[in-house]
Formats: sequence, structure tokens, C-alpha cells
Amino acid sequence: MKALSVNLDQKRKGTYYSDRMHRILSVCQDCGLLWHDERVTYRNGQTEIRRVDDIQPTDQVLVTPHYEKYGLRVNPRVLPRLRSMASQFAYALNVPSAAVEVDGNIVYVRVPRPEEEGGGVVLFEHAWAIAPDIPRGSVLLGVDEDRHQLVLDLTSPSNVHAAVIGMTGSGKSTLMRTMILSAEMIGGVKVALFDPSDGFRPLSGHPSVWRGGLFKSAEDCERGLEALASSIGRGMNELTFVFVDEVPELIMRRPAIRDYLARLAQAGRHAGIHLILGAQHPLASELGPMTMRNIPVRLVGRVADRSAAYNATGRSDTNAESLRGKGDFIVVNGSTLQHFQAAYASPKLLAEWARRYPPREPRVPPRPVQARAIQHLAPASGFGSRGVGGRPLDDIPDFVVREIQRYIREHGRPPSSNWIYRLTKETLPTGGFNRDKARRAMAAAGAAFAAPIETSTPEEVA
Ligand SMILES: Nc1ncnc2c1ncn2[C@@H]1O[C@H](COP(=O)(O)OP(=O)(O)OP(=O)(O)O)[C@@H](O)[C@H]1O
Ligand SMILES: [Mg+2]
Repeated sequence: MKALSVNLDQKRKGTYYSDRMHRILSVCQDCGLLWHDERVTYRNGQTEIRRVDDIQPTDQVLVTPHYEKYGLRVNPRVLPRLRSMASQFAYALNVPSAAVEVDGNIVYVRVPRPEEEGGGVVLFEHAWAIAPDIPRGSVLLGVDEDRHQLVLDLTSPSNVHAAVIGMTGSGKSTLMRTMILSAEMIGGVKVALFDPSDGFRPLSGHPSVWRGGLFKSAEDCERGLEALASSIGRGMNELTFVFVDEVPELIMRRPAIRDYLARLAQAGRHAGIHLILGAQHPLASELGPMTMRNIPVRLVGRVADRSAAYNATGRSDTNAESLRGKGDFIVVNGSTLQHFQAAYASPKLLAEWARRYPPREPRVPPRPVQARAIQHLAPASGFGSRGVGGRPLDDIPDFVVREIQRYIREHGRPPSSNWIYRLTKETLPTGGFNRDKARRAMAAAGAAFAAPIETSTPEEVA
């Protein structure tokens, strides 16, 4: 279905749409934007004042399922002011919000349509049926304004990772469920599911789910993401989509998750791992700007205000603050922007899926610290097994290993070698561990892979 295009009558009077166009033009006139006078000097020295139109209506209104869009032809000199006038248009039209968007050489004043009951909902089944042969590596998002199916190809080099951002009720989890369900239906990829709010549960029983279930508690999520992060570069390049909802909450509970996500984001598409991260507000403060730069696709629903819209998209012209919520989204990647309605996997559809593939508990990877600690006990009790790198571990006392493990538990990251140096210097007759020995102590505690050891930063003396 194309967006309906309504022709306005010449006098712009009488009908609903022409009345609204008229009001928009009145606002422009009141602000002095409609025309300006120009002094023209002729060769013979005569001058004349001439009126130049700055804003002219196109005689058309586009009506999409969600919006009315009033087209204007605009002199570029008034464009910046026009763009700042969205709230004046909203006031004049008596609607909660309006937006000014530039599309090619036409500027549209976009006004949300009054909401009909159940109107605007795009069911997953319908969006899927538009073109059911979605290629492997892509996921379904929904439909665009022309009701064409919109998919996101995560394996394309310009996409790779995506963030889903919007305030509560904007439809993030719903959109992520749509993406997951489509990935499971398309096949050929693993989906790893992390969600403390349990919203992905109905989708967690499918055979393609990584480790057989949904990771829910922050602690399990930490272990799962740690295992994924340390799988990078080990040649297990199975295409994997990693869906993590409520990212800020997880990072708040388990700070190490930030580092695992950073590593996964950095690994890029050659590792075959693609992140889809959900958050209520822009993630830069949690993940840091470096990681955000590795996440080029932003799926943004309604956000609180202009600055949140800017932070979520990196652009100032998206008007994400005037989206309607409930699955009304834009997808932004660099300079491209597309508006869409997220497809809605209804509770009934999800329940059917869960009946077919009953949810199970995931096989949570064992905590590497514990696994290695067991290994470490062996030499201490005289079995003579060898530590990481083939060196004996028995020159590293048990309590050092235990202290390092306690540090990791409390801080969610391994200590610096400086910290180990101080610990051992104060308590051992042989003096503090040097860098090499600190590294082996860390290996014995199962933490060697977690971070490079720093000798030069004396910052963290716990
Ligand atoms: N695409 C959609 N179509 C129709 N309704 C939707 C859509 N997306 C969301 N909704 C409605 O909005 C409600 C909230 O959606 P959802 O739980 O996905 O929001 P959220 O952004 O994840 O919020 P929170 O941040 O609180 O988790 C849903 O229960 C549903 O009724
Ligand atoms: Mg949610």
C-alpha cells in the first residue's frame, strides 16, 4: 500500500487537510517566514520592491497509517528556523507533537494521526508474509511507511551490530522478540539470549538457541557473555546473533559485562558474532564511546527529548522524541534514516512457539575461576600437574590465588599486577611477585585471559 496522497483544493479551504495546511502556513506567516521583500535595481537606476515567496505549499498531503505529512517547498534561508518550529505547529494544530522533516527538496510537517483502536499494529505474521524468504543473516524489523517489509542484514559490513533504544513502552523488547523469532524461523544462525526481564522466554526453547536456553540472572549473563567473548578467535565462527535486553541494568549489577560486550563489539563481523543491545537510554555512558562507535545501527523508538534523540542516533534531525511509541521506530545508520513500524509478535503467537519449543534452562558455562581453581589444587596436594604454560604452580601459595579470586568476585575484573605485588610483598618472606610471576598467579586464579596485566599503572591498590 502506498502512502495515500491527498490533493488540496486551490483555495485551501473547506476540508480537514486543507484546513490544517492553512494553519501551518498561518504559523509561518506569523513568524515572518512566508515571504520577504527584495529590492531590485534596474539598469536605468530605477528600483522596485519585489515580494519573494520563501515557503509554498505543495498541493499535497501524504497520509500514512500513522502520520499526515504536509509538504512545503522552502527557500533554504528559512529552513533552520522552520525546523525549530515543531512545537508551534503542534500548538496551532492542537496535537501533542509535530515534527519538521526534510525529504529531498520537500520539507514535511509531520503530524501524528489520531489513534484508532488497534490501528497501526502490524502483526508479525503479516510483515513476514509480505516476503517470507528472508535471507540467512538478516532479521525482520517490520514495515516502512509504504508498507514494504523492512529487514536488517546484520552480516552486511556497514551494519554488524545494532542498539535498540527508547523509553519504557516504546516497544524495544517487542522489536527484539520480532528479530529473534524471525532469526529462528529463517534458520542457519545461533541466537544467544540474555534478558533479566525474562521477556525472551517464549523464544528460548528453539534448537538454535545458544546453550539451550535464556540467560536471565545477571550472574548467568556474565558467565555466558564471558564465554562468548573468550570464544572469539578460537575458530568457532558459527554465525551467532547475541540479543541482550536491559543492558544498563546488567552492567550495573555485573560491571564485567561491559568489558565482554566491548570485546564482542570490537571483534566485528569476522568473528561471526553480532550484538543486538536493548536499553532505555543511550548506551554511551555504560559502554563508552569506543564501543558505541562499533555499533553503527541504531533502532530508536520514542525517546524523552531532543537531547536523548541526539545521543541515541548521533544526529540532530531525527525527531525521535516525537515518535508515537508502541513500535513506532526509526532505523539510523550514519546518514541514512528510515521510519518503520515494528512488527508485533502477539502473545498468542509467542505462546504457540513456546508450546512447540518448550523453554528450558540454559547450560551456564562454569565459572572459569572455579574451573581453574580446581586445577590449581592438584599441584598443591602433590599430584604434580602443571599450570598454564607448563610451569609448575607450586611456587604460588594458595592464599594468593584465593585473594586474587576474591578480588575478581568483588570487583568483577582481575587485579593489576601492582596489586599482586603489594599483596605478596607484605606477606611473603620471598618478597613481592614480579610481572611474570604475577601473571602466573593470575593464570592460576583463572583470570589470565580477562585482561592484559599492567605493571605501570599504580592506580588500583585495593
Ligand atoms: N510493535 C508494536 N505493535 C503494537 N504494540 C506494541 C508494539 N511494541 C510495543 N507495543 C505495546 O507496548 C507495550 C510495551 O512494549 P515493550 O515491552 O516492548 O516496551 P519496552 O520498550 O521494552 O519497555 P521497557 O523499557 O519498559 O522494557 C507492549 O506490551 C505492547 O502492548
Ligand atoms: Mg523491555
